[in-house]
Amino acid sequence: MLATMAVSLGMVLVVAIVDYLTGLEISVALLYLVPVCWGAWFGGRNAGLFVAAASAAAWLIHVMLLCGFIDHPWVLAWNTLTLGVSFALVAVLMATLALTQKNLEATVTKRSAKLREEVIERRQAEEQLRQVNAELQQAHMQLIEAAKMEMVGRMAAGVAHEVKNPLMILGMGTDYFLQHPVTSEAEAMLLQDMKDAVRRATHIINLMLDFSKPRPLHLVPEDLNTLVENSLDLVRHQFLKQGIEVVRELQADLPALPLDRTRMEHVFVNLFTNAAQAMPAGGTLTVRSSLQEVSGGSSDPGCRVMLEVEDTGPGIRPEHLPKIFEAFYTTKPPGQGTGLGLAIVRRILHIHGANIVLGNRSEGGARATLTFNPTPKSLP
Ligand SMILES: Nc1ncnc2c1ncn2[C@@H]1O[C@H](COP(=O)(O)OP(=O)(O)OP(=O)(O)O)[C@@H](O)[C@H]1O
Ligand SMILES: [Mg+2]
Repeated sequence: MLATMAVSLGMVLVVAIVDYLTGLEISVALLYLVPVCWGAWFGGRNAGLFVAAASAAAWLIHVMLLCGFIDHPWVLAWNTLTLGVSFALVAVLMATLALTQKNLEATVTKRSAKLREEVIERRQAEEQLRQVNAELQQAHMQLIEAAKMEMVGRMAAGVAHEVKNPLMILGMGTDYFLQHPVTSEAEAMLLQDMKDAVRRATHIINLMLDFSKPRPLHLVPEDLNTLVENSLDLVRHQFLKQGIEVVRELQADLPALPLDRTRMEHVFVNLFTNAAQAMPAGGTLTVRSSLQEVSGGSSDPGCRVMLEVEDTGPGIRPEHLPKIFEAFYTTKPPGQGTGLGLAIVRRILHIHGANIVLGNRSEGGARATLTFNPTPKSLP
């Protein structure tokens, strides 16, 4: 405010000097409007009125210095008054304009801030809506999947029960003939093939029964790395035969997990077997375990034990990815895969409160990521 007044009065002085030097030039007197406007715009109405009065006084002084009292004193007073009032009117006008502009700026700033807040709120609401929608869709898919699994399970159980007894009779029959002398080599081979076929069919039936009606879990605190090692032992011969190298990156001192040992080994053997089948000409299987912290957006933050199984095979074709966990979905030639492996794996993990994600690695090959909660809230 003081700076504005000083600048305005400085300008009045400069105009007064110019006015004095140029004589009684009316156009120069109009230059007093510059400090008046300046003072009113930046200093407000009172400052503007003060500069207007100072301008009128400066004009009066310069006239008196130039001409003395040539005119009648009342004429001089009248001229000074009209000039002063004109300057004052301009000052009031300018101050009002400045005030209106400031108010307008304040209103615009306030409205912009409110609008910004509204936009942020709307974006947050949209994000929440998207999340809820995604969760709903996931829940919907899970419901469909569960209904499908139940139906497949019931069908499998029915078929398995019907087929189990005839298979048992066939098995006993082949055993009976194998215990008796055979007439030719070809007959012996045929009997052995029949026995192998019956064994394979029985294995599939047992898988189907286990899938449709899993046995109750026998949960005991287990060290995940030990179960991984046991399972690797079970597939060691197959890996050796195919020239598969195993890389272990197992983190020591993992917390014990409540697991059903037999079923969890079943899970790992299934994953290792799939990896081996994807690398018929050899490759590398990497098994990695680690402890990781889950926080932020998770509904259940805390520690998680992660297990990754990676192979260097061709990976999974994108069009197969959405279906690989479906029961009886296989890309293997007839007789080589039942398509029950991953469906059982997922079901076993699910009843342990664990989770599996299977996808492709950017370097090539597939990666299964298993997530275990050391303290699951509740098991299904
Ligand atoms: N590591 C992997 N690399 C490439 N494809 C895989 C891998 N693991 C699974 N798959 C794909 O997922 C499909 C389903 O696997 P799943 O284990 O359920 O059945 P399967 O292996 O075909 O039969 P089964 O396990 O009964 O012998 C496989 O047919 C295969 O196409
Ligand atoms: Mg399999």
